Amino acid sequence: MPRNALCQTLALAFLASTAAAYPRPGGGADRWHVLHNARETALEYDYVVIGGGTAGLTVADRLTEDPNTTVLVIEYGSLSDSALISTVQGGFRGFDAQFLYAIESVPQVHLKNRTTGVLAGKVVGGSSAVNAMMTVRGTAEDYNRWGTFFEGTQDAENEDAGWSWSGLLPYFRKALHFVPPLPEVAQSSGIVYNTSFWGNTSGVYTGWPSFQFPGTTIQFDAFRSMPGVEFPVDSGAGEPGVYWFPSFMDPTKVTRSYARTGHHDRAVARNTSNYHLLTRTKVDHIVLAHKADTPDAKAIATGVRFTVNATASVSVPEDAQARNGSSSSTVPVTGWNATTRSHTQFVRARCEVILAAGGIHSPQILQLSGVGPRRLLSEANISTIVDLPGVGQNFQDHPMLTASFALSNYSSVHPTTSDLFLNATFRAWSDAAWKANRTGPQSLGVGNAAAWLPFPVISPRWAEVSANLSSQKHAAYLPDGTDDTVAAGYAAQMASYAAALRNNHTAFYNNVLSGGANSGTLVLLHPLSRGTVNIDPVDPHNREPLVDYRAMSNPLDGMLMADMIRYTRRFFMENPAHAQYGPIELAPGDYVNSDDDLAMYLSETITPSEYHPSGTCAMLPRALGGVVDQKLRVYGVEGLRVVDASVFPTLPGANTCQTVYAVAEKAADIIKASAKAASK
Ligand SMILES: Cc1cc2nc3c(=O)[nH]c(=O)nc-3n(C[C@H](O)[C@H](O)[C@H](O)COP(=O)(O)OP(=O)(O)OC[C@H]3O[C@@H](n4cnc5c(N)ncnc54)[C@H](O)[C@@H]3O)c2cc1C
Ligand SMILES: *[C@@H]1O[C@H](CO)[C@@H](O)[C@H](O)[C@H]1NC(C)=O
Ligand SMILES: *[C@@H]1O[C@H](CO)[C@@H](O)[C@H](O)[C@H]1NC(C)=O
Ligand SMILES: *[C@@H]1O[C@H](CO)[C@@H](O)[C@H](O)[C@H]1NC(C)=O
Ligand SMILES: *[C@@H]1O[C@H](CO)[C@@H](O)[C@H](O)[C@H]1NC(C)=O
Ligand SMILES: *[C@@H]1O[C@H](CO)[C@@H](O)[C@H](O)[C@H]1NC(C)=O
Ligand SMILES: *[C@@H]1O[C@H](CO)[C@@H](O)[C@H](O)[C@H]1NC(C)=O
Ligand SMILES: *[C@@H]1O[C@H](CO)[C@@H](O)[C@H](O)[C@H]1NC(C)=O
Ligand SMILES: *[C@@H]1O[C@H](CO)[C@@H](O)[C@H](O)[C@H]1NC(C)=O
Ligand SMILES: *[C@@H]1O[C@H](CO)[C@@H](O)[C@H](O)[C@H]1NC(C)=O
Ligand SMILES: *[C@@H]1O[C@H](CO)[C@@H](O)[C@H](O)[C@H]1NC(C)=O
Ligand SMILES: *[C@@H]1O[C@H](CO)[C@@H](O)[C@H](O)[C@H]1NC(C)=O
Ligand SMILES: *[C@@H]1O[C@H](CO)[C@@H](O)[C@H](O)[C@H]1NC(C)=O
Repeated sequence: MPRNALCQTLALAFLASTAAAYPRPGGGADRWHVLHNARETALEYDYVVIGGGTAGLTVADRLTEDPNTTVLVIEYGSLSDSALISTVQGGFRGFDAQFLYAIESVPQVHLKNRTTGVLAGKVVGGSSAVNAMMTVRGTAEDYNRWGTFFEGTQDAENEDAGWSWSGLLPYFRKALHFVPPLPEVAQSSGIVYNTSFWGNTSGVYTGWPSFQFPGTTIQFDAFRSMPGVEFPVDSGAGEPGVYWFPSFMDPTKVTRSYARTGHHDRAVARNTSNYHLLTRTKVDHIVLAHKADTPDAKAIATGVRFTVNATASVSVPEDAQARNGSSSSTVPVTGWNATTRSHTQFVRARCEVILAAGGIHSPQILQLSGVGPRRLLSEANISTIVDLPGVGQNFQDHPMLTASFALSNYSSVHPTTSDLFLNATFRAWSDAAWKANRTGPQSLGVGNAAAWLPFPVISPRWAEVSANLSSQKHAAYLPDGTDDTVAAGYAAQMASYAAALRNNHTAFYNNVLSGGANSGTLVLLHPLSRGTVNIDPVDPHNREPLVDYRAMSNPLDGMLMADMIRYTRRFFMENPAHAQYGPIELAPGDYVNSDDDLAMYLSETITPSEYHPSGTCAMLPRALGGVVDQKLRVYGVEGLRVVDASVFPTLPGANTCQTVYAVAEKAADIIKASAKAASK
C-alpha cells in the first residue's frame, strides 16, 4: 500500500499499485544495498533518486533514516575504493579520466573558438569524489539574493521556504562535521576559526592538514597592507575577505571525506532494508504521465527508465513484463534491444522522483523526458510534455584566469612547495612523516587560504562598471531566440549584481594562495555571462549534451577580469610586504594594460570553468525562467524535484560543494515535510 496520502494521490495514476516484495540479494552487508544488476531492484520504491553524487546520496541517506521510507539511487558510475579518490595529497582528482565524463565544450566563440574539458564526477559520490576538497561557502548576500528573486511572488502554492543566509545556516551546520586544526599548526600559521558557524554531527568531515607552508602565511599577511581588506573570524561567517578554510577530509584517517563515505556508507551501515544503490546504470529519462483530471493538466512523474549495462551476460529478466511498466498505457514501451544487446527497464516511484544528476546532466535528463524549451525538443524529435523554457539555460560556472607572478628572491623562506622536489632532505622528512603518522606536507590538499574580495576593494572604477551593467540591454547578451521569461530572469540577476558591484558584501575576486614563490589561481566569482546546456539534436539519446559556457559573451566580464589582473599586479608588484622577495610579472606582462589588450589576453588564456556547473534548472519564479519553485518542485510536473547544483539561480561566490551539501540537507527536510503534510 502507498505510504501516505501524497503517494496515494500519485498512485492513482497507476492501474497497479501493489508493493513488490523487497528483494534481498545474497552476500555480505554491502551486497544488500549495492546492486550491480538491475534485476535485483524492487519494482517500486517510495523515492527514486537519479544520480548517486554529492546531493543525491545526501538526500537518500536522510530519507532512509526513516526505516519506512524506501529509496533507490541510480548511478551511472561505479562504486570505487580506489586510493586515487581517498588520497588527500594534492586534493584534486580532476585528471583521473576513469572517474569523469568525457565531455568537451562547444568552441567558445569569445575565446578564439577554444574548447575546454567539462569535468564532472562519474563515480559513486559524484563530483565530491574528484574535487579539490576546498570547503568554502559564499557570503550572506549570495544566499539572500536567492530569496529576493521570489519577492512579491509568494502565494499559498509557493510560500517563502527560507532561501536566505539565515535559512541556510542551520543546514551548513548540519551538512558537515568540522574538526578544528591542531593548536600548534593554527598557532604557527595564524589560522583562526570560530566553531559557531559549524556543526559536528554529519558523516561528511571537514578538517585541516597537519602542516602548512610558511609561504601561505606570508601571502596571507601581505593582504594586510592592501586597503579595505577584511579578515573574517571564520570561512563560514558569510563575510568576504581573506581567510583560512578547511578541506573535505577526515582528519583522523587523513583521507578524502565525501558523499560516498559520509552518506552512502552511513546508509549501508544502518543495515536496514530500505536503501538501494544501483551502480553502472544510466538513466535515460523520467517517465511522465499526463494528469488530465486536474484543471491545470499537470504531468506526473511515475518513475524512471534506465538502460541496463549491456555486458554479454545480461539477458532478459524473468519478470521483464512487470519491469516493463506496461501495465499502464501511459508508460512507454521498454524492453530488449537485439542490436545493442541491452534492455531498458522501468522502476516506479511511489512518491517522488528526485533528479540529482548535476549541473550538466539534470537539464539533459529533463529535456529527454519532454520537459524543456519546446523549440529545442521538437528539433530533437522529443514531444513536449511541459514547455519549460528555462531548462538548460542560465548556465553558470566560474572562469579561471592565469595571471602569473613570481617571487624571485624567496630563498630566505623555507620550506617551500618546491623543496618537495628540490631538497632531498626535506622530501625524505616529508615521506617519513607521512609513512609514520600520516602527517606533514602530504596531508595537504590544494591549500587552505584565499582572498575573496568585493569589487570596490579591488577596483577604483566600481561605480562606472556598476552603472555600465545597469544600463545594458541585458537580453542582447543571451543567445538569439532566448525566451522572454529567461531574459527577464537574467535582467533580475544583473540588477542584483549591479548593486553588489557597489557594495562590499559580495566577493567578485578570488585569489587562492599557493603557499609558494608563484602566484595562485584567480577566479571570477560572479560572472555576468550566461551559457547553455542543451541536448544535441543530431543524436539526443546517445550523445552528451552540448555544453556552451558562452564565456565572456557579456563584455563586462572582460572589464571585471581586467581589474582582477590589475589588482593582483598591485598586490605583488607595489606591495611593501613583497618588496624584499623580488616580485616579477610573468604573465600577461606589464605592457598588457589597456582594457582592450587585457580583454584580448583573457580571451586567449582563461578557462571558462572551475568545474562548478550550476544554474541550468534554476530555482526562480516561472516568470523569470525558473525550472523549480522554492520547494525545488519542477513547474508543471507533480512528484518531481531537482536537488543539485543546477538549482542555484546564481552562483555563490565560492567553490560549490559545501553549498550543494547544504541545499541537499534543506531539500531532504522539505521532502520529509511535504510527505508528512500530505499524510495528514
Ligand atoms: C574536478 C573538480 C574539482 C572541484 N573542486 C572543488 C572544490 O575544491 N571545492 C568545492 O567546493 N567544489 C569543487 N568542485 C565542485 C563540486 O564538487 C560540485 O559542485 C558538486 O560536487 C556537485 O554536486 P552535484 O550533486 O550537483 O553533482 P555530482 O556530485 O556531480 O553528482 C551527479 C551524479 O549524477 C550521476 N549521473 C549523471 N547523469 C546520470 C544518468 N543519466 N544516470 C545515472 N546517473 C547519472 C553522475 O555520475 C554523478 O555521480 C569541483 C568539481 C570538480 C569536477
Ligand atoms: C513505520 O510503519 C509502521 C506501520 O505502519 C508504524 O507502526 C511505525 O510507527 C512506522 N515507523 C516510523 C518510524 O514511522
Ligand atoms: C570561430 O568559429 C566561427 C564558426 O566556425 C567562425 O565564424 C569564426 O571566424 C571563428 N573565430 C575565430 C577567432 O577563429
Ligand atoms: C564566534 O562567533 C559568534 C557569532 O556567531 C560570536 O558570538 C563569538 O563571539 C565569536 N567568537 C570569537 C572567539 O570570535
Ligand atoms: C559539538 O558541537 C557542540 C555544539 O556546538 C559542542 O557543544 C560540542 O562540544 C561539540 N563536540 C565536539 C566533540 O566537538
Ligand atoms: C567598500 O570598500 C572600499 C575599500 O575599503 C571603500 O572605499 C568603500 O567606501 C566601501 N564601500 C561601501 C559602500 O562601504
Ligand atoms: C544486517 O542485517 C542482517 C539481517 O537482519 C543480518 O543477518 C546481518 O548480520 C546484519 N549485518 C550487520 C553488519 O549488522
Ligand atoms: C558495464 O559493466 C562492465 C563490467 O561489468 C564495465 O566494464 C563497463 O564499464 C560497464 N559499462 C558502463 C557503461 O558503465
Ligand atoms: C514491454 O511491453 C511492450 C508492450 O506491451 C511489449 O511490446 C514488449 O515486448 C515488452 N517487453 C518486454 C521485455 O517484455
Ligand atoms: C536499438 O538500439 C539501436 C541503437 O541505439 C537503435 O537504433 C534501435 O532503434 C533500437 N531498437 C529498438 C527496437 O528500440
Ligand atoms: C633542505 O631541507 C632541510 C630540512 O628541512 C633543511 O634543513 C635545509 O636547510 C634545506 N636545504 C636548503 C638548501 O634549503
Ligand atoms: C610520528 O609521531 C611521533 C609522535 O608524535 C613522533 O615522535 C615521531 O617523530 C613522528 N615520526 C615522524 C617520522 O615524523
Ligand atoms: C526527426 O524526425 C524527422 C521526421 O520523422 C526525421 O526526418 C529526422 O531525421 C528526425 N531527427 C532526429 C534527430 O531523429
